Parts: sequence; C-alpha cells; structure tokens
Amino acid sequence: MEVLNETSSRFTLIGLSTNPWLQPLYFIIFLIMYIVTVTGNLLIIAVVRTEPKLQTPMYFFLSNLSLIDLCFSSTIVPKLLMSTLTEDKTISFWGCATQMYFHLALGGTECIILAIMAYDRYVAICHPLHYNTIMNLQRCSLLSVGTWSLNFLNSIYYAYSTFQLPFCRSKNVNHYFCEMPPLFRLSCTETLINEIAVYISGGIVGLCSFVLTLLSYVHIILTVLRIQSSTGRQKAFSTCVSHLSVVSLYYGAIIFMYLRPRGSYSVDRDRSVAILYTVVTPMFNPIIYSIRNKEVKQSVRKMISGRSHFTMLTFHH
Ligand SMILES: *[C@@H]1O[C@H](CO)[C@@H](O)[C@H](O)[C@H]1NC(C)=O
Repeated sequence: MEVLNETSSRFTLIGLSTNPWLQPLYFIIFLIMYIVTVTGNLLIIAVVRTEPKLQTPMYFFLSNLSLIDLCFSSTIVPKLLMSTLTEDKTISFWGCATQMYFHLALGGTECIILAIMAYDRYVAICHPLHYNTIMNLQRCSLLSVGTWSLNFLNSIYYAYSTFQLPFCRSKNVNHYFCEMPPLFRLSCTETLINEIAVYISGGIVGLCSFVLTLLSYVHIILTVLRIQSSTGRQKAFSTCVSHLSVVSLYYGAIIFMYLRPRGSYSVDRDRSVAILYTVVTPMFNPIIYSIRNKEVKQSVRKMISGRSHFTMLTFHH
C-alpha cells in the first residue's frame, strides 16, 4: 500500500524561477536553445551517416556524442518548456524516475565517449602508423556498445535505489528537473549509503574518463611540440582543437559545479550551473564542430546547399 501510494503521487518541480514576469522570457530562450540543439545534433548525425569522407572512428564517436546530447536535452527541456507554458509544475512519479534514469545514463555515457574520442586523437597523432589497427571498426563498435550498455545498466540500480526511498518529507523538488541530490533531500530516512554509492560510482567513471582524457592530451601536446615545422604542428593539432574545446566546456561545467568552497552551497547557483550542462553544452557541441572542424564544416555546407539545389530543382519542374 505504501509503495502504491508513492507511485501514484506527483512531485512538484520548483522550476527555473518563481518570478512570473520571467516565465515568457525563459520560455522563448529555452525554446530557441532547444531548437538549435535538436537541429545541430541531427545535422551532425545525418552528415556523418551520409558523407563518405566522414566514415572514420572519430566521426562515428562524434555522431554518438550528438545522439547523447540530443537525448540529454530532450529528457529535460521539453518538460521544462511545458511546465513554463502551462504553469503546471508537477511531474508524475514515473516521469521523475525516467528523467533521472536517462539523465544519469546519458551523462555517464557522454563522459566515457569524450574520453574515447580523446584517446582516438592520441592514437591518430602519436601513433599514426598503427591507427587503423588500433582503432579498427570492430573495436570501436565494441567500445561504443559497451559504453552505452554499461551506463544504461548501471543507472537502473541508481534509479531503483533512489525511488525506493520514502519521500515523506516533502514532494517539492528544489530543481527544474529530477536530479538525485534534491531528491535525496525529500526523504526522511538516512540516504548516506545512496549518496556514498553515487559518489563512488560517479567518481570512478568521471575520474577515469578525466584522467584518460588528460593523459591523451598531454601526450598529444608533447608530440605536437616536437614537430619542427609550424604548419605541420598546426595541421596535427587542428584535428583535435574542436574536441579539446568540447572537453573543456564539459569539464569546465563539472569543475565549476563541484570544486567550490565548502558551505557555499546555493540552490540558485546549482540551478544555473545545471543549465550550463543540460542546455548550453548540448547546444554548443555541434556548433563547435561545425565551425572549427574543416571536414564537418564542408560536409554540412555541402549537405545544406545540396538540399537547397534539390528543392530549387523540384520547384522549377
Ligand atoms: C557510435 O559509434 C559506433 C562505433 O564507432 C558506431 O558504429 C555507431 O554507428 C555510432 N552510433 C551513432 C548513432 O552514431
């Protein structure tokens, strides 16, 4: 009976702001950002799918990243837009659980995919002769499938253990989506074990990915510095500039979130940092790649102009 009561109950998300005057502004800003995110990431996926020049591990993983970003913002932003518009801030028990589950699973997958992408650049720049044997297609698919399934399986446990807690203190989630820490605060039982489990597992995934990414870039930079000609240096480095920008944006948000003086906790600040990695990063990843990476830029241009030629042709007939 207890469990039944829980699952039929609804949570209330505090939302972005309680100020009614800001709601229309937020709605428009987030709608535009969401449209840009969806369009940009779909474009990257389509371009990698269709362009023969982009049939390499680096771009396959970029396409994975775009899929993650697309899903990541889709688990949060549409619900946010709806509740801003209708002013109904409640979310069902299952809606909340689903949101948290995908948020966790996709977040972990993104972290590992970024590390694999850094490793891929390391092999390409530091061991170019062995690139095709080390990053062969079979191994890449295995890595990708492994990463996705590991995170989606692992997150079942966290979602399950979180939503088993009795949320007896309150049903008001002090955030704009269902995230673990604010949910823990709604429980009147001890959540220390849950918190420790989350921090250990998140710490392992996050730290391993971060170290792998960092090591790859240290090796890349050392190798690039050893190249004598400056054009050669530029050429070697140009393939990883966009990835390095994406990585910096991602870890920048995480570091901003976690490395801060103790006791300076503030809900408002947490919310603004969360906006950074739930809305802003997924939007900028495809933009960075389509601006800084020459191959992607050309392919996107080709695709768009190809489409418009096609529509012009059909228009004339
Ligand atoms: C993800 O990466 C793998 C391995 O490179 C690739 O086979 C797969 O097609 C990618 N998936 C998407 C959706 O891009």
